[in-house]
Amino acid sequence: MRRLVISLFCGGLFLMSPHCMAAASDDHETSSVFRFSDLSALSIDQLWQQAEKNKSKDGKGLKIGGQPYSTGWGTMARSTLAINMEGSKGELSLLVGMDDDTLPNKGHVNFKVLGDDKVLWESGVMETGDKAKECKVGIDGVRVLLIVSEPVENGYYYNHADWINGEIAYSGKTPEVFALPKEEKYILTPPAPDTPRIMGAKVYGVRPNHPFLYKIPCTGKKPLEYSVEGLPKGLKLDSETGIITGKIAKKGDYPVKFSAKNSLGSFERDFTIKCGDKIALTPPMGWNSWNCFAGSVSEKKIRTAAKAMAESGLMDYGYGYINIDDYWTINPKLPYDKDLNGPERHDDGNINVNKRFKDMKALFDYIHSFGLKGGIYSSPGPYTCGLCVASFDHEFLDAKKFGEWGVDYLKYDTCTYTPDMESSRTRKIDWDKTNLDKVLEKFPKLRTDVAPFALMDYALRTSADRDIVFSLCQYGGADVWKWGDLVGGSCWRTTGDISDRWCCLRYIWSRQRELYPYAGPGHWNDPDMLVIGPLGWGTVRPSRLTPSEQYTHFTLWSMLCSPLLLGCDLSQLDDFTLNIFCNHEVLEVNQDPLGNQAKMIMTTSYKSDGAALELWSKSMEDGSTVVGFFDVREAYEPSAKEVRIPWQKLIGADKPSRVRDLWRQKDVDIAEGSDCVVAPLPAHGVQLLRIWK
Ligand code: GAL
Repeated sequence: MRRLVISLFCGGLFLMSPHCMAAASDDHETSSVFRFSDLSALSIDQLWQQAEKNKSKDGKGLKIGGQPYSTGWGTMARSTLAINMEGSKGELSLLVGMDDDTLPNKGHVNFKVLGDDKVLWESGVMETGDKAKECKVGIDGVRVLLIVSEPVENGYYYNHADWINGEIAYSGKTPEVFALPKEEKYILTPPAPDTPRIMGAKVYGVRPNHPFLYKIPCTGKKPLEYSVEGLPKGLKLDSETGIITGKIAKKGDYPVKFSAKNSLGSFERDFTIKCGDKIALTPPMGWNSWNCFAGSVSEKKIRTAAKAMAESGLMDYGYGYINIDDYWTINPKLPYDKDLNGPERHDDGNINVNKRFKDMKALFDYIHSFGLKGGIYSSPGPYTCGLCVASFDHEFLDAKKFGEWGVDYLKYDTCTYTPDMESSRTRKIDWDKTNLDKVLEKFPKLRTDVAPFALMDYALRTSADRDIVFSLCQYGGADVWKWGDLVGGSCWRTTGDISDRWCCLRYIWSRQRELYPYAGPGHWNDPDMLVIGPLGWGTVRPSRLTPSEQYTHFTLWSMLCSPLLLGCDLSQLDDFTLNIFCNHEVLEVNQDPLGNQAKMIMTTSYKSDGAALELWSKSMEDGSTVVGFFDVREAYEPSAKEVRIPWQKLIGADKPSRVRDLWRQKDVDIAEGSDCVVAPLPAHGVQLLRIWK
């Protein structure tokens, strides 16, 4: 007998497969062995790419502590395997260890076995080179069994975790790989009204005498007519497009009032232009080419993205950057790809673009014509991560060129840079090391980590003649959050690359907990670009995150004050994806002028055991508190009950005056009593509340 159960759950529609339901299967009692070697690679959720059968993560033979093994799975931690046991009797046996394939670089992983969220066995921290450890554990009565390789430190690329000869001897129901209930896409954001509504940040930073470009983001029926009260000297507004251009000579705060009207009504909003040293006063919002196009990016695709950003309405919500990632320069390492061949640089040393790009100045002019801004990508090494030409030994020339083209954002990715190459410089560089010295006073050992970024910051400031958001990309090495700001970083990546798997999201997420003290206006932690909507690093396909996971991802990134760089193909947006990107009440959390990054305040459970909910909280400029309730259960628990959390714990008061559900843009009834009541959330889903005392 197979059953399909439909249930409406917190606004999400779930089609539950029989695997998720107790007593849904009528398999007979058996006594047998369930072998991991019979699994498919997709049964294993892991940080990046797919698990390898009988091979290490790098495709070599499995080998732990010098000992080769023929059967098992090579994974990249964090990796998880969930098995539905439905309370059968059984015993799990498995060998675990770190694969030798990354030696001499060592990863560190703790292997765990959990039964219904309780830890049944743990390896302790294992390092690459250690001998394998044997895990034998009784699992009688367990409903969902979870095998996890948990990274212990930010070794990211070296955490190659092997599971050797795994099997479960069982009697009872046949174990099955656990699958989350299939979830249909669901829309929570109400449509924007046809009357005008001005969106986006409330503050904007610009440096004196640098080109100013800002389009007032506004939804509502077109055409709109814009006006601004109190515009400082040097700036002018195009009242048809809402684009403000010009230059401000004098430092200072300039409060202005934006207005927009159409045939149905009008809207006003206060805004402050801050002319000073700091830019990126709120997290940058925009798009980057990597997560969808990776190495296949071209000028045509960038133009299409710019047009789609403007025409899809995304721009009306404040998304403003169109950023080209890797693969716009020559790639001498891929001689068979004729598009990427050619001289690395011109005779005068200026960087050459590959054949997929023609005229960079014209491209950036095109981007600017919409009121958008444009970004580019390079590395302090001679080549980028994709082995295309980068800026080593040409920092000043490249910064000048970026300025001439009209670049507004530079992602600077450490990749091929090594300190020993400094002796091979052919160009004399003379630069002011004051900022570098400031960092070295605090962190004397970090010279080689910091210097290449301090140098490019200096080059941008002295050679580009325009504001360029400087995004440091070195995957969270050398505690970059402690010094990134001192070398001009507007944001810095805090981990390795993101992928669209729950495992990866959870891993990146766990790395953000301690970082809230380091974010603020002009300097942001960057947990990497979004993996929502159609993407795929070259072959565009739907995100592998479930709809609820996509809500969770966007909510958390908003609360973390992360740059919101969309990673999907903007020409293939559906209503669901737009509903996630275009909720102005959620975006306001990200763009709040205070720039307070959310903190995790507690974990709690729907049951008495195991952590099922994480609560993150962020304070807003108007004194309200935003709380995100995130469902982090690894396995779906059909009998979950509501949880009650005292308001005191959330806002430090017995009862709030107002509570708003931000995704639904609706005020919530405040239940009698002193508790906030949270109904069970969709698997890996979120509830986002803004609470006023
Ligand atoms: C990685 C970086 C990615 C992308 C890629 C390009 O190092 O983290 O976001 O930029 O390089 O090759």
